[in-house]
Amino acid sequence: MLPSMITVLMLIPFTCGQNPAIQVILTNKGLQYGKHAGAGWIQDKLELVTFPDISGEIGLSILGSIYYTLTGITITKCDLPEPSVEFYQDVTGFKTSISGLSVALSGNWLTNFGIIHDGGSFDMAIFNVDLTSVVTLGKDPDGHLSVTSVSCDAQVGDVDVQFHGGASWMFQPLVKHFKGHIRGEIEDKICPCVEEYIVILEDYLQVMNVSFDVDQDLTLDLPLTGLPVIDASNLNLGFKGEFYFIKTHTDPPFESKPFTVPEQPGHMLSVGLSEFTLNSASYGYYSAGLLQLLINDSMIPPGCPLHLNTSAMGPFIPQLPKIFPGLLMNLQAYAREVPMFSFQPGAVKLDLQCAVKAFAIQPNGTQTPLFKLNVDLNFSGKAWIADGRLKGNILKNNLTMTLVSSEVGTFSTDPLENLAKMGSRVILAKLNEKLAVGVILPRMRQAQLVNTVLEVDEGFIAISSDAEVLPDRGFD
Ligand SMILES: *[C@@H]1O[C@H](CO)[C@@H](O)[C@H](O)[C@H]1NC(C)=O
Ligand SMILES: *[C@@H]1O[C@H](CO)[C@@H](O)[C@H](O)[C@H]1NC(C)=O
Ligand SMILES: *[C@@H]1O[C@H](CO)[C@@H](O)[C@H](O)[C@H]1NC(C)=O
Ligand SMILES: *[C@@H]1O[C@H](CO)[C@@H](O)[C@H](O)[C@H]1NC(C)=O
Ligand SMILES: *[C@@H]1O[C@H](CO)[C@@H](O)[C@H](O)[C@H]1NC(C)=O
Ligand SMILES: *[C@@H]1O[C@H](CO)[C@@H](O)[C@H](O)[C@H]1NC(C)=O
Repeated sequence: MLPSMITVLMLIPFTCGQNPAIQVILTNKGLQYGKHAGAGWIQDKLELVTFPDISGEIGLSILGSIYYTLTGITITKCDLPEPSVEFYQDVTGFKTSISGLSVALSGNWLTNFGIIHDGGSFDMAIFNVDLTSVVTLGKDPDGHLSVTSVSCDAQVGDVDVQFHGGASWMFQPLVKHFKGHIRGEIEDKICPCVEEYIVILEDYLQVMNVSFDVDQDLTLDLPLTGLPVIDASNLNLGFKGEFYFIKTHTDPPFESKPFTVPEQPGHMLSVGLSEFTLNSASYGYYSAGLLQLLINDSMIPPGCPLHLNTSAMGPFIPQLPKIFPGLLMNLQAYAREVPMFSFQPGAVKLDLQCAVKAFAIQPNGTQTPLFKLNVDLNFSGKAWIADGRLKGNILKNNLTMTLVSSEVGTFSTDPLENLAKMGSRVILAKLNEKLAVGVILPRMRQAQLVNTVLEVDEGFIAISSDAEVLPDRGFD
C-alpha cells in the first residue's frame, strides 16, 4: 500500500505539472472573423441539405382522417442572418445564436384518405427561426481538443405552405389546421441536426494527430497539456510542444517554464513558442549523436589558402610540420553539451560548446591523434517578420578556444582562435545575407496569415497575426 502510494505521489508532479511549451490564443477579433467566414460557408452548405420527411394526419371529424406526407424537402432559398458567437465562460465554450432565420423550401406532398391517394408539389416558407447552441470545449485523455453540445434551443416563428397539383384546392384551406404540427416537427428536427454536426466535428477532432514527424529523426508532440481556458475575450490552448528523437523518445533533462503571452486584442490569434520547444529539438539531435561533423581536406574550398595538411600548420602549431610533415588531416567536431537557445527581450541567443579532435592521416590510412580543442561559441541574434517572411540577423558572436590535450606538445591557441574568428565572420556574413532574405511563412491551403508580428520575450517568442480566408476555397 505505502510503496504504491509513494509511487503515485511521485508521479503527480510529472503528470500534472507539465507547462505548455506552445500556446495558441484565439481573440474575440479572431472568433468574430471566423464566425463571419463560417456563416458564408454554412449558407452554401444549407442549400444542399435534404430534410427528413414530415408525416401527419388531419382529422375531418366523422369523415375520418387524411394522412399526409411531405417528402423530398429541399431548401430553395435561405437568408442566413449574421449569427452571434461569443466566448462562454460558464461552460468553457462558445455560445452561438441565430435569430430571424427564414427559409424557403419545396417538395412533394402525398395524401391517403381512405382508398383515395393523391399527390402534388408544395412550396413552404419557414419564418423567424431562432436557434441558440452552447458547446463546451474539453480535452480527451490523448490530448485531443473535444467539443460537446451542452444545450440547444430552436424556435420556429411561423410556417406557410402552398400546395400545387392534385386536389390541392381542397387542402389549401386546411393549412391553418395542420401547420402547427409541421412547425412542431421542424422545430424538433433542428437541434438533433445541429447536434449531429457537433458530433461530426468531435469525430474529426478525435482522429487528428497530436504528434508529427518533422524528419526521419525528430517527432513533435503536440497534445493539449490541460483543459482549454476561456475568459470573456480569449480562448487559450496549451500544447506540450516537445520534440523527441524518434528512436528513443526520451525527455530532455530540463522542463518547460510557465509563460504568459501578452494580450493582443488587435490581432486574431497569437502563438507563444517557448525556448523549451527549440531546446527539446536540440536535445533530440544531440542525444541521437547527430550533432557531429567530420571535416577533411576535400571539404575545404579549393581557393582557400589554408589546407588540412600538417605542413600548412606551421604558423599555428610550429612543431607539427616537424613531427608529421606532409600529411593530410581530419577534424572531428562535435557538441560537448546540448546547444541551448535562450529567448530574451529582443534577442535570441545560442550557446554552443563544441570539441574538435584533430588527426593526421598516415600514408597507410591510420589516423594518428594530434590534439583536442574545446571551442565555445555564443551567438546572439534578432528575428522579425516582414513582407510575410521570417527574417533574422546574427548580431555578434563570441568564440573562445582552449587546448584540452595534445599528443604533439603544448601550443598557444591564440593564432588558431584568430583564424577561427575570421572564418566565422565570413560564414556569418553569408548566413546573414540568407537571413535578410528570410523564409516565407507557412501558408495553409484555406487561409493565409497577414499583419504578422513577432516579438522575442523572456523565455518565449510571441507571434501575433490576422488570418485571411482565401477566396473560393472555403473550408473544404
Ligand atoms: C496521422 O499520422 C499518421 C502517421 O504519421 C498518418 O499516416 C496519418 O495520415 C495522419 N493523420 C492525419 C489525419 O493527419
Ligand atoms: C572526405 O569526406 C567525404 C564525406 O565524408 C568523403 O566523401 C571523402 O572521400 C573524404 N575525403 C578524404 C580525402 O578522405
Ligand atoms: C601537404 O602539403 C605539402 C606542402 O605543401 C605537400 O608537399 C604535400 O603533398 C601535401 N600532402 C598531401 C597529402 O596533399
Ligand atoms: C557563452 O556560452 C556559455 C555556454 O556555452 C555561457 O556559459 C556563457 O555565459 C556565454 N557567454 C556570453 C557572453 O553569453
Ligand atoms: C601505419 O603507419 C604508422 C606510421 O608510419 C605506424 O605507426 C602504424 O603502425 C601503421 N599501421 C599499420 C596498421 O600498418
Ligand atoms: C566572450 O566570452 C568570454 C568568456 O565567456 C568573455 O570573457 C568575453 O567578454 C566575451 N566577449 C564578448 C565580446 O562577448
